[in-house]
Parts: sequence; C-alpha cells; structure tokens
Amino acid sequence: MPPGNGSGPVDESTLCNYLPPELAQKMRVAKSKKIGRMSQDIQSPRFESDWASIRTHQVPDWYHDAKLGIFIHWGLFSVPAWATPVGEFGTVGWDRWFANNPYSEWYLNTLRIMGSPTQDHHRETYGSGFDYMDFADEFNSRTRRWDPLAMARLFKDSGAGYVVLTSKHHDGFTLWPSRVENPHLPPGRRCSERDLVGELTDAVRGLGMRMGLYYSGGLDWSFNPTPITTQELVGETIVQTPEYSAYADAHWRELRQRYDPIILWNDIGYPERSDLAEIVADFYNDHPDGLINDRFETRQPGAGRRHHDFTTPEYAKLDEITPYKWESCRGLGYSFGYNRAETDEHTISEAALVHLLADVVSKNGNLLLNVGPRADGSIPPIQAERLRGLGAWLERNGEAIFGTRPWVRAAGETSEGIPVRFTARGEAIYVIVLGRPGPAGISLQLDLPGRLRDAEVLGLGGAAAAGYEDGRLLVRPPDRLPDWPAYALRLLIG
Ligand code: GLC
Repeated sequence: MPPGNGSGPVDESTLCNYLPPELAQKMRVAKSKKIGRMSQDIQSPRFESDWASIRTHQVPDWYHDAKLGIFIHWGLFSVPAWATPVGEFGTVGWDRWFANNPYSEWYLNTLRIMGSPTQDHHRETYGSGFDYMDFADEFNSRTRRWDPLAMARLFKDSGAGYVVLTSKHHDGFTLWPSRVENPHLPPGRRCSERDLVGELTDAVRGLGMRMGLYYSGGLDWSFNPTPITTQELVGETIVQTPEYSAYADAHWRELRQRYDPIILWNDIGYPERSDLAEIVADFYNDHPDGLINDRFETRQPGAGRRHHDFTTPEYAKLDEITPYKWESCRGLGYSFGYNRAETDEHTISEAALVHLLADVVSKNGNLLLNVGPRADGSIPPIQAERLRGLGAWLERNGEAIFGTRPWVRAAGETSEGIPVRFTARGEAIYVIVLGRPGPAGISLQLDLPGRLRDAEVLGLGGAAAAGYEDGRLLVRPPDRLPDWPAYALRLLIG
C-alpha cells in the first residue's frame, strides 16, 4: 500500500521488477521513447494548454499501422467474475440492461440494483453482508501468482502491436500502488499490492509492443455510489466535484510520470473543471506520437468540445471508410471483465474474429480486442485460443492488414456471394475473401486502376492463376486450399 494512507510505509523494492522505483521508471521512459522513435522520427511541435492548439495533433503512423490492440479488463470484479450473459452491447434494451448487465466489470453497480440476478448470486455465493471492496484481499492474494511475461507473450502471439490496461475502472480500485490517497476507501481497499500496471508495462515493452492505459475518468463509484439504472444516470453520475477533479488529474499525472503510456484511454467523460488541457498538452509535447481517445468528452449540454485522435465504437462496426481514425472495442464474449457464466456460445468464433478485423481495417479502424483475465492474471483457455487463432491467421495473412490503408472501396462480394474486404499499400491492393471459395475460384466485379501485373494468394507461396477482363477479376486459387477463415489476395497493379 502507498504511504500516507494509514497502513505504514510501502516497501517499493518489491515492485517494478525489483528495481528501485526511480530507476525502474527511468528505464521505462527511456524504453518507450526508443520504441516511439523506431517507427517515426517526428519533429516535436509545442502544444499549448488550450484545445485549439491540442486539436492540431495528428494521428501517428505507428497507430495506423498497428491495427490490432489488446484491451485488458482486470480488477476486483475479476474475483466474483460473474454477470448474466444476456446479449451483446447494443442488442439489449436500456430498460433491461443495467439490472442484467452482461459486463462483469459493472458487478458493483449491478449488485446495488434491488432484485438483480447479481444480488441473488452474491447473496448465495458470499452472503449479503459481504462488501464488494473486500474482494481486494482475494485479488491481492491471487495476483501474487501472476506471470506478466506469459500474459504479454500471449498478446504478442495474437499479432497485437499495443496493449491497453484498465488502471482504474468504475469501482475506483487502482491496479498500481498510487500515492494519491482515495479519501472514500479504507486502507487495503484502494489499490493492488503488486504494481500490476508497472509490471505489465515492462513486460509488454520488453516484447516490442506499445503500452496504453485505460482510466475511468467520469465514473468513480467510490466518490459517487448512486446506482446507475438508466442511460441518463450514466452521464448524471459523472463526478464533478473539485475534490474528484483534483484526484483524477493527479492520477493521470502520476500514471504518466511512472509509466509513460503512449495512449491515454479515458472512459465515460472527465470532470468539467480540471487541468485536462495541460495534462494532454504535456503528454503530446513528450509524445508527439501519443494518442488520446474520444471519451474525455462529457457530452453534457453546454460542455466545451475537447479533442481526440480516434473514436471508440463499442461492440459496433461502421458501414463506410471514414476520413477519421476509429478504434472498435469489444470483449471476446459479452463482457469485458472475465465472466465465468459465459461459455463457447457467448464467445466470438475464430472466423468471425478474423472477419471483424478485416472489416474494421478496411474502413480505417483499429480493433481493440478485449481479454478478461482471471483474478490471478491467467487468461481463460477459450480466450487464449481465440487470440492464438487470430495470431496464426495474421502470421500468414498479416501483409493484407498491418501497415495498410483503406482502398477506395471497403467491401464487395464475389459472384458466389462471399463477402470481401479491401485494403491497400503502395501499388498493392489486397482482397480479403471472408469465406472459402468454391472450385470455380473467385470471380469479382472490380474497377482496377491499371493493368493487373500479378496476383497471389497470401501464405500459399507462388502466383495464382488470375485474369482481369471487362471489369471482372478471376482468380483460381491452388486446388488444395487449407481451411482458413479468410484468404487474402495480393493484386499488383501497373
Ligand atoms: C464502457 C463500460 C465499461 C468498459 C468500456 C470499454 O464504457 O462502462 O465497462 O470498460 O466501455 O469500452
């Protein structure tokens, strides 16, 4: 526990991979700056602490290139790890949503709703007197077994270029031993004993990925415990007190100073009276190649417009190529936090996952795919399987995804009715066929911008028999096609 909270001085020598904290922090900062420089050599512009200046910030190339990030929802809610899997976000009416919330990270809120299935489950499993924050003991004891490197390796195997961890979710519990004291939570209930943020940051960077941090800036149920039962209450319970503004500002500054994240991924708004412009300007001045998401906006009537590098549709896809950058986020199942009540039936299939990534990338998006670890930091087998499946497909077909940009058109369909998605890089156009073509091969109506010089099905080695006549592309893939969720054609033009 951090000093100044009544529990005695913290022994920080046990944190940050056993390095003294100042040294560990310096090494982290040096390493993250080196990774930043590797992909881009940007001239540092000066950003002023006002939104007009901040709005001139551009999305860095590394983020356009990376396409896939891993989101991690981990916290006290990973101990009960329970929710009713009623459906994907967007498919369940708001009138049913909150009492039956399929997001296990909302456990504390659902528990506060009279008659919710979570209330019954909690009473039967832990007894009605058991306080949610008391999961901290179990969480701390289980996280002692966590292996950050094993977790980071799995993310690397999925093909992800960056990782975003929940440093603090809506329940207010922090995954790092913060020096900023929470006045509403007792000692021992404020933060994790192990520096989960620091240790994962080191492991992720050690494998050449970038590290971003999620922070629930709008909702903090330790400051405002009002149960959220309607969509309106989500906005209305955003904490706006001066005490909380100072607290959230201090947290973002501390996270920056200790861990130097490359993405500030905020959730559900941010207090109106805060030092946010200064925090973001400082961030961009240190990291012209950094990004912030769109959820610092409170969207409240009269609230000033802020800035974002990308938007964040949740369990949602877009129909068209957008001129702006977006990042679709979703869990592998219906929840972000681990939900032990979910089964295969609630989990996205490997094929659907590959198709989703191709779809998102074809329209100028990135996919921030969420995993919900168990309390001890291990990833449940079904989730690990999906990440590895995606990684195996990307290993052969990643050329059609990583480093590409949208083509002039995002989607089409073969004459057999198999959907396709397009991406492009240099003189190559990629056609990603989201299904197995029949024996006649692939036939597709297409306006190519020049002569078709060469066609190849990625991952199979060698050119494919291909022709282009009267605006129709015909490709005969090799006879023995392996069983993949999607096949990527590389067309070279000119
Ligand atoms: C929502 C949810 C939250 C989840 C997040 C991920 O805002 O409240 O539980 O962390 O989206 O995008």
